[in-house]
Amino acid sequence: MKRTVWTRKHLLGIADLEVAEIEMILDSADSFLEVARRPIKKVPTLRGRTLLGLFFEPSTRTSSSFEIAAKRMSADWVNFSSASSSIKKGETLLDTAKNLEAMAPDLIVVRHALAGVPDMLAAELSCGVINAGDGAREHPTQALLDAFTIRQRKGKIQGLDIAIIGDVEHSRVARSDVALLTKMGARVTLAGPRSMMPPDAEALGAEVCYSIEEAVRDKDVVMMLRIQLERQSRKVFPSVKEYFEFFALTRDRLAKAKEDVIILHPGPMNRGVEIASDVADGPYSVILHQVANGVAVRMAVMYLLDGARGERA
Ligand code: CP
Repeated sequence: MKRTVWTRKHLLGIADLEVAEIEMILDSADSFLEVARRPIKKVPTLRGRTLLGLFFEPSTRTSSSFEIAAKRMSADWVNFSSASSSIKKGETLLDTAKNLEAMAPDLIVVRHALAGVPDMLAAELSCGVINAGDGAREHPTQALLDAFTIRQRKGKIQGLDIAIIGDVEHSRVARSDVALLTKMGARVTLAGPRSMMPPDAEALGAEVCYSIEEAVRDKDVVMMLRIQLERQSRKVFPSVKEYFEFFALTRDRLAKAKEDVIILHPGPMNRGVEIASDVADGPYSVILHQVANGVAVRMAVMYLLDGARGERA
């Protein structure tokens, strides 16, 4: 039976979600898309709510789109800057969070380099928590906006052949995307150099291959991943030039995919490393559509979590 009522207070990972819950988020995001096309881009949905962005790692797309999404729903959005906070004076993460909680936010959106921080905050705080990326574990709203973009462009997710290529080991996006897309009935192939493939890659539920040509062949969707130099403690490829030569998505390689392939990338892109510029900007790329859809998806997530409080006017 299809679930029709959202009951979760937190969004911590895709692994927790049922297919019906994913569909609820994607369907709600569909209805929020048109707000961006209005002359006055504002609805009163979250008026009176206070949302707090706690980003302990850099972000352009996720932090901005959460803020824009919150403001489009008339919520008050407060950005916490870890660089200028009392964490620099030695205050712990939990003390910081408890002090911020004392100011009565309704929802906290957190990004942290350590896996599990959003779960820890959800267990300790009374407000809702959204995971905006924790270490290499999960980035659930990125996977939701990727799925939304695929469904928007292809009309479905079930039965599609999807390749996710690059630095899989360090990618929370890859983990959340494999979990989501396989739950929705897609066949997912993970590809990259052996030195960037986690030992448990097959256990994630995807096929694994080490050749980009093989990974791209006959795919409906190709998602390229950023090489995450900041998370690499050892050298995992000889040089950028060689990485581009063996693992970048180029026009020649893309020609092996289906004729109507779409290309995704969560950003930020390393042009000339994992993706050629003419492919990133070319006719098959939906990369900026992903970014636009991210606002509607985050509006949907905040709307549904807020509704679970049962206090909506
Ligand atoms: N996709 C993504 O998480 O981008 P940002 O790091 O810019 O938020």
